[in-house]
Amino acid sequence: MVIAAVFAGGIGSRMGNSDTPKQYLELGSKPVIIHTIEKFFVNDRIDEVLVLCPKPWIAHTRALIEKYIPAGKKVSVTEGGATRNGTLENAIAYIEKNYEVDENTVIVTHDAVRPFITHRIIEENVEAALKYGACDTVIPATDTIVESENGEVISAIPNRKMMYQGQTPQSFRLLELKSVIASLTEDEKAVLTDACKIYTIKNKPVYMVDGEVFNIKITFPYDMKVADTLLKGKEKDA
Ligand code: CTP
Repeated sequence: MVIAAVFAGGIGSRMGNSDTPKQYLELGSKPVIIHTIEKFFVNDRIDEVLVLCPKPWIAHTRALIEKYIPAGKKVSVTEGGATRNGTLENAIAYIEKNYEVDENTVIVTHDAVRPFITHRIIEENVEAALKYGACDTVIPATDTIVESENGEVISAIPNRKMMYQGQTPQSFRLLELKSVIASLTEDEKAVLTDACKIYTIKNKPVYMVDGEVFNIKITFPYDMKVADTLLKGKEKDA
């Protein structure tokens, strides 16, 4: 079984003072989160879609799904966590409680605010998670990446050819992910902001799936303008 976990548990503080988290803002004719859910909903490799959002937004999210998503494949909504990793832990707990889990259960975790995910990316994530146990979606870095330990002077400039930008989805065999998380010390948990980093710290391989430059994450108000332009371009191509 393959479950898509759509992470919508954030409040979008970098978007400014909006009372509405960015995943609920309108992009074209529907909210950002609906564009994202639809991609997974129609993909044949995905058996279930689980949306994790802030508790006060659960009823609204359910209402949106009812309005925009045709009945059929099950889409469930539950509460996200206080941090992104908390949302991941809630997803794992929900899946174990509500679905039949075995060694071949795969979780495809994706940011609700990346509505331009493609079917190729979804399918390659599922394949890679089944084959390698874990995968991340990345694109080669185009700018030189500069590292600074103190935020004032450069401490290192890594070779750009070895640098990539991480996107989502990140996908895993669920039971393995659970046991890797359980093996973390409290100190390790404190520094881990990324599920794939958990694997690399434990010396476990994470396969890289090719992302797309347009698989952007809506973070700042400017990104909504970019998203709008991308959407109009796609509608024109269709
Ligand atoms: N996310 C989540 N649970 C959290 C925090 C974030 O599911 N506790 C989700 C967000 O909803 C988003 C994705 O993770 O879809 C990427 O995170 P980010 O862009 O950082 O979103 P926010 O945390 O909402 O934004 P900000 O950091 O500006 O507050």
